[in-house]
Amino acid sequence: MTDRKYIKDLNNFIGEEVVIAGWVDIRRDQGKLVFMDMRDMTGITQCVVLPNHTEAIEAVKEVRTEWVLKVTGIVNKRPERNIKEGVLNGDIELEITAIEILNKSKTTPFSVNENTIGINEDLRMKYKYLDLRTERMQKNIRMRDKIISFFRDHMHNNDFIEIETPIMTKGTPEGSREYLVPSRTEPGNFYVLPQSPQQFKQLCMVAGFEKYFQVAKCMRDEDTRGDRQPEFTQLDYEISFTNQEEIINYTEDMFIKMVQKIYPNKKIQEIPFPRLTYAESMEKYGNDKPDLRTDKNDQNLLAFCWIVDFPMFEKDKEGGIQAVHHPFTSPKAGDEDLLNTDPLKALANAYDIVLNGYELGGGSIRIHQRELQNKIFELLGLKQEDIEARFGHMLEAFEYGAPPHGGCAQGIDRIVMLLENEPNIREVMAFPKTGEGKDLMMGAPSTVSSKQLKELGIEIIKNN
Ligand code: AMO
Repeated sequence: MTDRKYIKDLNNFIGEEVVIAGWVDIRRDQGKLVFMDMRDMTGITQCVVLPNHTEAIEAVKEVRTEWVLKVTGIVNKRPERNIKEGVLNGDIELEITAIEILNKSKTTPFSVNENTIGINEDLRMKYKYLDLRTERMQKNIRMRDKIISFFRDHMHNNDFIEIETPIMTKGTPEGSREYLVPSRTEPGNFYVLPQSPQQFKQLCMVAGFEKYFQVAKCMRDEDTRGDRQPEFTQLDYEISFTNQEEIINYTEDMFIKMVQKIYPNKKIQEIPFPRLTYAESMEKYGNDKPDLRTDKNDQNLLAFCWIVDFPMFEKDKEGGIQAVHHPFTSPKAGDEDLLNTDPLKALANAYDIVLNGYELGGGSIRIHQRELQNKIFELLGLKQEDIEARFGHMLEAFEYGAPPHGGCAQGIDRIVMLLENEPNIREVMAFPKTGEGKDLMMGAPSTVSSKQLKELGIEIIKNN
């Protein structure tokens, strides 16, 4: 529609006839007059149909909320007494001269011109495209885009390049169960969906890119919670010839600038962000993601902090040891010998960034030498043949001039949730999954045809 104007711009056309297109937000029949609010992606405007426009008045009588219309009308200034200060188009009204119905709508299962936070969430998920029409969800998804584009610009302005890494790949250990994709060409073999781009970003350092970033999709088969989804997005980055101080400072500066630009009304409690060692945090707060806000009711207060000096390892349930961050993390200078004597005492070059009691992200300075990496895998209880099978490509890459490197990754969903004061990350994701990992709109996961299973060499065993 080339002649169409956006609702936010109507103020520029006072006294003129314009065409708008969008959805009927509300319709109020007042006998001879009919009022109607029209909504497009840019906002809402009040429209009125006067009795003298006979065709339009006939058409509007049939119209219901959420119908899609092309409306022609004259932009009028409102009489002084009807002006609504501080509201978009609060001083104008569109006098409708013609209505073209582009599509009708059934009565929606919930009102989309109200906040849906109190509506049954399964219903919202099933009709996600309607839930997303609401003002709050539109704002959340649009702010998410603003935050992501700030990060992208900031990264590019600092010489990083975005590199897309594979989604169909091999496992990378981040401590969760993995999603598998069966191979058709090699029955019995599987791709693994990445828990993070960890290995690829390190290999990008070996490849000489020096500064990598990615707005990266990650998949983890773990129990879903308010701040966890099976599929989520990280701002992931890696730098060569770096150290912990540089990564912490770069990250901190990026967050401060992002808040100043996109959320100027918010206040960062303390700059530079306070730093606590893991031991201090555990002792003082009993956890490694303390909520340091001085006023927990202040919706505009942001209390960032860093947790540093994590242990390399912790005990796992089977009596062995597991990496606290991940196995690619290097030990702190001076703690290398502890790997031989008392590995649980060794500290790591690992750091987490925390905001208002949530872990936003974490990273580490990596190992870039074969022997040390191999030793860590051994300490984690892997046999040499397993090490070769699972991580031989990393060990080999380290032998071809791997530079020292390190990086970090933040959960974008958690960042947006906290900045938008939402209670969980589902409210800031366009198409989230339920607590059971279901997509109620698409109906996923779902069964597949027996032909597909046969091609993949897969047989389903049904448990009663
Ligand atoms: P880590 O596993 O700590 O580190 O993840 C980084 C951040 O990703 C977010 N996150 C999640 N968000 C939503 N749902 C989930 N299931 C979920 N899991 C994690 C969190 C978390 O802090 N490769 C390393 C980073 C590195 O070392 O550079 C990694 O993935 O906000």
